[in-house]
Amino acid sequence: MDKFFLPLMNDNIDKEDVNSVIEFLSQDKIPKLTNGPKVIEFEKSWGEWLGTKYNLFVNSGASANELTMLAIAHLIGEGEIIVPPLTWISDISSVLFAGHKLVFVDVNFTNLSFDIDKLKSAINENTKAIFLTHVLGINGLTDELLEICEEKNILLIEDVCESHGTTYQGCKVGNFGFASNFSFYFAHHMSTIEGGMISTNNWEFYQICRALRSHGMTREMTSDSMKISIAMDNPDLNPDFIFLRPAHNFRSTEINAVIGLSQLKKLDDKNQERRENFDIFISNLDPEKYHVSLNTEGNCNYAFIVILKDADFTKRNEVERKLRNNGIEFRRGLSGGGNQMRQPFFKSIYNDFSNFPNIEHIHNFSWYIGNYPGLEKEKILKLLEVLNG
Ligand SMILES: Cc1ncc(COP(=O)(O)O)c(C=O)c1O
Repeated sequence: MDKFFLPLMNDNIDKEDVNSVIEFLSQDKIPKLTNGPKVIEFEKSWGEWLGTKYNLFVNSGASANELTMLAIAHLIGEGEIIVPPLTWISDISSVLFAGHKLVFVDVNFTNLSFDIDKLKSAINENTKAIFLTHVLGINGLTDELLEICEEKNILLIEDVCESHGTTYQGCKVGNFGFASNFSFYFAHHMSTIEGGMISTNNWEFYQICRALRSHGMTREMTSDSMKISIAMDNPDLNPDFIFLRPAHNFRSTEINAVIGLSQLKKLDDKNQERRENFDIFISNLDPEKYHVSLNTEGNCNYAFIVILKDADFTKRNEVERKLRNNGIEFRRGLSGGGNQMRQPFFKSIYNDFSNFPNIEHIHNFSWYIGNYPGLEKEKILKLLEVLNG
């Protein structure tokens, strides 16, 4: 029994998924279990679901972030990457690990993505990419953002780790950027226990990512012409062991891919349930007390988003006390716990947040609460009663 009346999450993996693994492992000849045909099958099915041409299964969403930033450094060099302070830590560490420079831009209360005016003034000739996070199932794209990327020739990278199935103008997010990253961590919309995906329509980027997923080994590329050209540039090396640049092993396994294939079949139905729950929640939340101005069109959410209107610590503590007393699990600060610029390793760099009022408000006065398939309507109503009261 869960100690919470309303827990933050319900494990996505069910008996059917476990049975698919048992069946896979029960073959007479035990299949090879590292990255193999099931991984390829999962990548193909994922591409059909999302609509992207090239898809690469990795062992976490954080790995997808890191590979993407490394591949960008490899393709167009190191430079400035614009990130929101409202995101997961891997969106920051991936930028730093790849040798880029972080540029933080505040978020807005309409879609929890960038404050567009501040974004415009942060762009300069060193800007390589805008690394957008679709926060907790809310679409972070606008036409203006897409136009800026196109006009200025800046790569858009979408972090969709919290937003599988969210749409913008009827199309799934993850289709708009140069690349998009997904997580299959157990609490997300679908799970492979641990896992992630990089999706793109760019062949060259995909090839670089293939190599970087496996230590940087060029033999992992599927483009013969790229492999041959690299081998010709390095005649002193055995073509089986050419490492493009120092990299990690981010591969997953056949077992995780089997779970992914089983989970993917159920994703749309489960997402529909999450959307219906979220609609009940947001349309009944008291607009006098909470920000309800979020643009929720196309949302696909695994969490209820609660943002207190007043910057009032007494009220905040009261909300948290009531949630706790009613057995409702919560996390303060939305994605990643609020303002990432406040983390210990940044203390000597960032200490003036006057240009970041929105993330500062979110840091102190917001929460997310679990929204999962199978969540009873009575529990949503009880949650609303607690919050609105
Ligand atoms: C926005 C975002 N990006 C990246 C990640 C990293 O995903 P993973 O936990 O699979 O490494 C998360 C994780 O929750 C996330 O919320």
